Amino acid sequence: MAVLLGIDISTTGAKALLVNEQGAVLASATEEYPLHTPKPLWSEQNPEDWWQGCQRAIRRSLASAGVTGADIAGIGLTGQMHGMVLLDGAGQVLRPAILWNDQRTGPQCAEITGWAGGLERTVALTGNAVLPGFTAPKIVWVRQNEPEVYDRIAHVLLPKDYIRYRLTGEFATEVSDASGTALFDVGNRRWSATLAGLLQIPMDWLPHCAESEEVTAGISVAAAQATDLQAGTPVVGGGGDQAAQAVGSGIVRPGIISVTSGTSGVVFAHADQYAAEPQGRLHVFCHAVRGAWHAMGVMLAAGGALRWFRDALGQPERAVAALTAEDPYDLLTREAARVPAGAEGLLFLPYLTGERCPHPDPLARGAFVGLTLRHGKGHMVRAVLEGVSFGLRDSLELIKGLGVPIEQVRASGGGAVSPLWRQIQADVFGAELVLINVTEGAAFGAALLAGVGAGVYRSVHEAVDAAVRVVDRTAPQPGVAAEYERLYPVYRGLYPALKPTFDALA
Ligand code: XUL
Repeated sequence: MAVLLGIDISTTGAKALLVNEQGAVLASATEEYPLHTPKPLWSEQNPEDWWQGCQRAIRRSLASAGVTGADIAGIGLTGQMHGMVLLDGAGQVLRPAILWNDQRTGPQCAEITGWAGGLERTVALTGNAVLPGFTAPKIVWVRQNEPEVYDRIAHVLLPKDYIRYRLTGEFATEVSDASGTALFDVGNRRWSATLAGLLQIPMDWLPHCAESEEVTAGISVAAAQATDLQAGTPVVGGGGDQAAQAVGSGIVRPGIISVTSGTSGVVFAHADQYAAEPQGRLHVFCHAVRGAWHAMGVMLAAGGALRWFRDALGQPERAVAALTAEDPYDLLTREAARVPAGAEGLLFLPYLTGERCPHPDPLARGAFVGLTLRHGKGHMVRAVLEGVSFGLRDSLELIKGLGVPIEQVRASGGGAVSPLWRQIQADVFGAELVLINVTEGAAFGAALLAGVGAGVYRSVHEAVDAAVRVVDRTAPQPGVAAEYERLYPVYRGLYPALKPTFDALA
């Protein structure tokens, strides 16, 4: 029986996940590492911390599953996207990695968009707007602010690809993660020589770019000694965390969408054809499935909005929950369940930390609109659940606008735990909402990609069919869905109406 290893270099830790051919998890080990914010807006990590954590996580997972390196048929890498790792000609790290959530490069994004000839042209060249999280503006920032570092650059890598370098000695990436660099021609699945030229970034700094299930190299002798893996074990391209997570959730065919609501909310759709969102309001990246793309919308406060409500206004529920060993979220959603759909005319705008999709606006704010004497706490909780669901629908609508069909929504994350919230989402989306058997996230998808590269499965679709199953279904209720259909345009009107107020408050 072949064993597959998925490695996730996330923002919080390195995870090693061992699964068998049927997708059963044999072992999982995570090693945490710190995140550094040396200045406001900065977010950095030490690539050596990733590598130390990765070695420990691999050794622990092998020991815990009782398998040896010789049992591993293939290895898949995934991780936080967009981060910039700079190496010199000897392969030494030149400065801490600048991460996806670092916000220092606003001015560089504006400059790059200008050099390219405007938003329309950056979307034409790369499929996307240039955003502060992406990699290219970080390189330009280093050129402008740390010229002594810039002069020594020989290689630019993404986080998981630095770990590939330590595991195999090879410089390589794959199409899904390369898509988030702002240096990649997403439509043609190759580096954009045009954009690299405009930015004066030498093409030989960029690693070889493979497809996600392609074998990029084998484990080196030195890495085998450091990790207990076997030298020569194939390492496939893998995927950025969102694309790998989608493979692990079976989002590999048109019509099936995922909605992951943790603190933030991510709406992810598979697309058989390449189509950019003309104003760059969605991310359009290569999927980890050969010949496919994906569109992705990110809202900043999804589960985070309900957590804010619990912390700011749920003190009584928290006190009761502490006595009865219940979950304060259950107490709050129980109050919301007693209120009819639409919360009797109360709406909530979920932009508590600004917004990314569909309004890229750091100054946007949250709001309750429509309060009357009739409204109590249950109404407010219901309005929060509905407002976040409307916000997710905004991304779904943009995805529909690209011609991508929406038949089934696979929900995961904290926002999928409450049956009431699942029902509200099904009703607001007007689509079936399902839960699946897999909860292991991106590392699971990376392991499936490794299985394809190692020949355990013939295709990503075969891997998904072997490992991913639907375990729960919530159908939209026609009457309620119609009520939300009526309210959605009212919700849509709130942001443009309140935008001048948000600007004045900021
Ligand atoms: C994707 C994104 C995050 C990071 C960190 O665009 O910004 O998913 O990859 O998880």
